[in-house]
Amino acid sequence: MMKHLYCTAGAGMEELLAEEVQHKLCATQVEQISGRVFFCSNADLHTVTQLKSAERLFLLLRKAEPISLPNNPAKAAAVIKQRVVGDPDIWKQTLLTWTALQEELQGSQQRGHKRRREEDEEESLTVADESTRTLTSSTHLLKRQNETNKESREQTPSFRVSCRCSGVIARSYTSQRLGRIIGMAIKEHLGWKVDLKEPVLEVNVYLSNDHCVVGIPLLKHPLASRSYMKHNGLRSTIAWAMTSLCPKQLNDCVILDPMCGVGAVLLEAAQEYSNAVFLGMDTDTSQLQKAAENLKASGMEGRVQLIRSSAMEIPLADGAVDAVLCDIPFGRKFSCSSDMPTALPRLLREMERVIRVGGHLVLLLSLQLSAQLKKTICTHKNNQYLNSSDTNNVHTDPSNTHNESTDTPKTLLISSLQAQRTHRVSLGSTDAFIHIYTKIQTQAHSH
Ligand SMILES: C[S@@+](CC[C@H](N)C(=O)[O-])C[C@H]1O[C@@H](n2cnc3c(N)ncnc32)[C@H](O)[C@@H]1O
Repeated sequence: MMKHLYCTAGAGMEELLAEEVQHKLCATQVEQISGRVFFCSNADLHTVTQLKSAERLFLLLRKAEPISLPNNPAKAAAVIKQRVVGDPDIWKQTLLTWTALQEELQGSQQRGHKRRREEDEEESLTVADESTRTLTSSTHLLKRQNETNKESREQTPSFRVSCRCSGVIARSYTSQRLGRIIGMAIKEHLGWKVDLKEPVLEVNVYLSNDHCVVGIPLLKHPLASRSYMKHNGLRSTIAWAMTSLCPKQLNDCVILDPMCGVGAVLLEAAQEYSNAVFLGMDTDTSQLQKAAENLKASGMEGRVQLIRSSAMEIPLADGAVDAVLCDIPFGRKFSCSSDMPTALPRLLREMERVIRVGGHLVLLLSLQLSAQLKKTICTHKNNQYLNSSDTNNVHTDPSNTHNESTDTPKTLLISSLQAQRTHRVSLGSTDAFIHIYTKIQTQAHSH
């Protein structure tokens, strides 16, 4: 079935999401705006739920020109009825599609539970007890889902509106107030029942200076919250972006994260590259313990080796790995014994040492550390890249203040890393940069 869908995405992730839907879902009519990517796809819903760069998944109901609202609430309600709610037939059709997709999803969940139950039953009695519990809770969920589907098939589902507005509209109306007006309009126009606590449908409305978007979420949980992450580390979408921005397919490669924390980067990479070998290092035993638990929960424990070690002295030979992916600590969440801007040149030197010529370095860095990075890595290509204006996000990268008079000791300057790309992403409260380098042959290597 061809579906009109959209996903929300963190700032800086829209382009990657647009590429991902084209590549994995063969999506058409792909359009990205700030925080959202729209597309058409006839991929089955289970495949759509495997997207890695998206936050939430919606069935698109309406994408229209922006609206402007009069200050008078009665007049505003009339505009909303006409421009946001519009033709009731579109709502009825979208509701039918939504119900069919819920049934599709339910079917694939049931098949998943059945498969897991069969695997569990083969294992042991204890596990069999656990699967009975899973069965009981999934039976409850299925019962609730069947009631939901019945209500929506009858075309009078309960609903609530969740509204976000920005720009000019936000000066006169709060999102909450607009949500109430839109809710009233849907109730009057379509006869649907408002239920703020446990509605069948959540109607999402986004009104800005440029867009009017209405959609219905297809899943209760965000795509971005991975069920296998027992301990949360780096946002999974960003960890996935670090993997996908690497210029080469990493299958049959050795990949190292020398500051792996709870293993978010390794886990995303291990799922993407089923034939690669992974190494994770950290100085903190409790982080490594959490990484081990995350790996077990995801069924990846056999594919990743964890080692307690410092990234300042990686216990590997020169050129031993094909890629280093690393989220270098900054901010308050991961306090670090060393002063990171001072330690960065030594860390980079060590990472560069273990990468083979032709291999890749992918780093997630704060703005401050990005500036330090640029002072440490100085190649001809790097300077060219810094001056170019066509490389993605370079012009929005405020760390591009390359200064010839660097603080980095000359012995730690690195000339063998060639800049490929810099990509700005949002970590919520702060922005960060993903830097991608390729190690090239230099005179020092050839001797
Ligand atoms: C930003 S966190 C990594 C987060 C990781 N991406 C995750 O998802 O959990 C940085 C990690 O570096 C570790 N670390 C700090 N200094 C280190 C060093 N010298 N060598 C290795 N690991 C170090 C910290 O223990 C922390 O777990």
